[in-house]
Amino acid sequence: MADRVASHYSENLELAGVIANHLRSAGKDFPKLTTTDLATVDEFHIRGRKATLELAEKMNLDANSYVLDIGSGLGGPARTLAETYGCHVTGIDLTQAFCDAAAAMSDWVGLGERVSFRQGDATNLPFATNQFDAAMTIHVAMNIAAKDKMYMEAHRVIKPNGIFAVYDVLQGEGGEVLYPVPWAREPLISHLVTPDDMKSLLVGAGFKLLEVQDSTEDSQAFFERMTAQMAKTGSPLVAWRLFLGDDFPAMARNQVRNVTERRIRTVSFICVA
Ligand SMILES: C[S@@+](CC[C@H](N)C(=O)[O-])C[C@H]1O[C@@H](n2cnc3c(N)ncnc32)[C@H](O)[C@@H]1O
Repeated sequence: MADRVASHYSENLELAGVIANHLRSAGKDFPKLTTTDLATVDEFHIRGRKATLELAEKMNLDANSYVLDIGSGLGGPARTLAETYGCHVTGIDLTQAFCDAAAAMSDWVGLGERVSFRQGDATNLPFATNQFDAAMTIHVAMNIAAKDKMYMEAHRVIKPNGIFAVYDVLQGEGGEVLYPVPWAREPLISHLVTPDDMKSLLVGAGFKLLEVQDSTEDSQAFFERMTAQMAKTGSPLVAWRLFLGDDFPAMARNQVRNVTERRIRTVSFICVA
């Protein structure tokens, strides 16, 4: 099943090269490249960088913090934290092509010293007990059936009293998800749970819940803006389409319905280990 998830995301093995070419075509000057220039492609979740910053605000971070990003993708959230707080971030992701691209993109914007990425599975983390001051995971558990293992592993590697910040797509009350969606072209690799299930899973793994925030209305506006923009001017040059391929417009349209009809919800959970 892990192979199916990784291949869903990594049709394009030369991702950093492809992104670099599209950045140049969009007129970006490489020596002056900033994390903002990358944000349309490397913050691969609903509500983009805004959502990452909202989550990070709750994580008690400073320049001495060592943070784990579980399911780090192209590394956008890890770079946002490192740039904003000066902290060190380790990303782990199932998809090797994403880890390679994340490392290259971090060097482009001068953050290669403060962020690193390695391939691995969230349900079996290759890290020592109590290794990190805090951890986050953004839009990852939708692909993971064994969420109990994932959250127990997160609890193991975070120091006592460290923050675990989760932002995920959850099953809504409006019916089955319409596919394809950005995390799955078919139900086989999609494993959504309800907000109540999620609370039980996190508490069951040993976390204490501090805060739960539902951002579904904001997520609806995000997809409405994205599809309106695409209808007007087409896909932006540097966008998720570079790795999701030609299915992407259909995924975005489905997401407008999924979120408007509350087939999905987006919710953040701030927990303490
Ligand atoms: C929608 S992307 C989100 C990436 C990143 N968190 C972000 O917000 O930009 C989902 C990511 O989860 C990763 N993933 C899925 N299952 C995983 C697992 N079992 N262990 C680690 N990463 C996983 C995928 O490879 C993909 O990079």
